[in-house]
Amino acid sequence: MSRRDLRDFIGQVEASSRLRRITGADPYLEVGAITEVAAGMSPAPALLFEQLAGARMPMRVFTNPVNSPERAALALGIDPSLRPVAMLKDWMLRRRTLVPQAPVLVSAGPVLDHSIAGDAVDLGLWPVPTWHRHDGGPYIGSGSLVVMRDPDTGWINASIYRVQVHSRNRVTIQFDHLGRHGAIIARKYWDAGRPCPVAVVNGDDPALFVAGFESLPEGVSEFDFAGAIRGSGIEVVNGPVTGLPLPAYAEIVLEGALLPMTEVTLPEGPFAEFTGYYAADKRPGPVMEVAAIHYRDEPILMGSPPLKPPRFHMGLPFRGAGIWANLEASGITDVVGVWQHVSSLMTVISLRQRYDGHSRRAALVAAGNAYMGRMIVTVDEDIDPSNMNDVLWAINTRCEPSESVEILRKGWSSSLDPRIPAEDKARGITANSKMIIDACRPFVWREAFPQASALSIEEARAIEERWGRQLEG
Ligand SMILES: Cc1cc2nc3c(=O)[nH]c(=O)nc-3n(C[C@H](O)[C@H](O)[C@H](O)COP(=O)(O)O)c2cc1C
Repeated sequence: MSRRDLRDFIGQVEASSRLRRITGADPYLEVGAITEVAAGMSPAPALLFEQLAGARMPMRVFTNPVNSPERAALALGIDPSLRPVAMLKDWMLRRRTLVPQAPVLVSAGPVLDHSIAGDAVDLGLWPVPTWHRHDGGPYIGSGSLVVMRDPDTGWINASIYRVQVHSRNRVTIQFDHLGRHGAIIARKYWDAGRPCPVAVVNGDDPALFVAGFESLPEGVSEFDFAGAIRGSGIEVVNGPVTGLPLPAYAEIVLEGALLPMTEVTLPEGPFAEFTGYYAADKRPGPVMEVAAIHYRDEPILMGSPPLKPPRFHMGLPFRGAGIWANLEASGITDVVGVWQHVSSLMTVISLRQRYDGHSRRAALVAAGNAYMGRMIVTVDEDIDPSNMNDVLWAINTRCEPSESVEILRKGWSSSLDPRIPAEDKARGITANSKMIIDACRPFVWREAFPQASALSIEEARAIEERWGRQLEG
């Protein structure tokens, strides 16, 4: 992949006519509102906000980075002209064979072109967006990587956690639960009576954004994974304050220390969630004291605020690719496609039925791995799982609710689930129930099922190729 950084990626998006430059928007709610409206368009454009209203630092903001299938594919180096399910399949297969690439240490990089340190640090000068109406404040990190080093092994974790600005030099970092790798690493420093060195990387090659979202096992670095996506190690410089590796072509980096929560906390949130709701009110969050800000010329903050579904950070449902891989690993044959709708809360599996119970077996495996989702739908191979209209057609014509629906209890969800009552969450309940909708033709009489009248997916595609220009006018 020839791309080196976010600027190269923005250039690629502009070349595909999917970039919109917006000037003069207000970082207080307007940037977020424009981002939300654009994310609801089809296709959704990426946005580069320039000359932000009231800005005292020349920062720009780039949003909706990879929320279309084409841009997600571009970030991964997949052919963006493929159909969405083919792109996801490509990623599912490639992910198995990715070879981790260690970062390459270089002596200098544009990220260190400008540095502000000590008393001169003032985040209030930066036009950091307040994204949604009821948010507790501006969030510099809505798609930023939080970099930490495990004090025992030296392993570098670089995952996405949101980062709220509270004052001149104080931000909070939010871990959804204590099992987050960042939370585990921070605790090790705190238990030894030390603050945890930390860097927040705002804006870089979207391969790092995708890597930061991946659930990688302990000991595996997101930097190595992003290098694998790119096919070469990410160039890093040593952070002047923390010694942590900082991507050399990052846009803006905060360096400092995450202070023990026994010493200080600040009220973090509320902040909108990807479900389209606020999951919780403000809560005490760990405080990072910012010792230095490093940035490039006219730096670009990459923002990916959570928005009401179907608007989602990732245009390809990466968690659906994980479910697809699980289905194959469980020995379920003839899976033709997997997709997730409603910001990954609804999973659809398309398969060629070979035996009675085949589709239910697939649904059960998917249900076990469908994080927070409530619906798993199985459809026949003539249904494109990424096409919601096709899926609804199958549900409404091939599924008999009295025979084809199962309810599973105590499934995998989280405290972000808006349908779990607050009193239950307070008792530690974070499970939900899941509905399997088998919208495949009943296996035993599938041959007698009425013939579908429409063109097959392949026939429709051939017509589009031959006649598409004339149809579009
Ligand atoms: C845009 C975006 C924002 C996210 N925000 C948070 C967050 O604030 N807190 C959190 O714990 N996880 C958040 N996540 C999810 C984690 O990044 C993801 O689960 C990651 O795999 C966690 O990595 P870890 O296992 O190294 O802790 C976010 C993901 C994305 C894509």
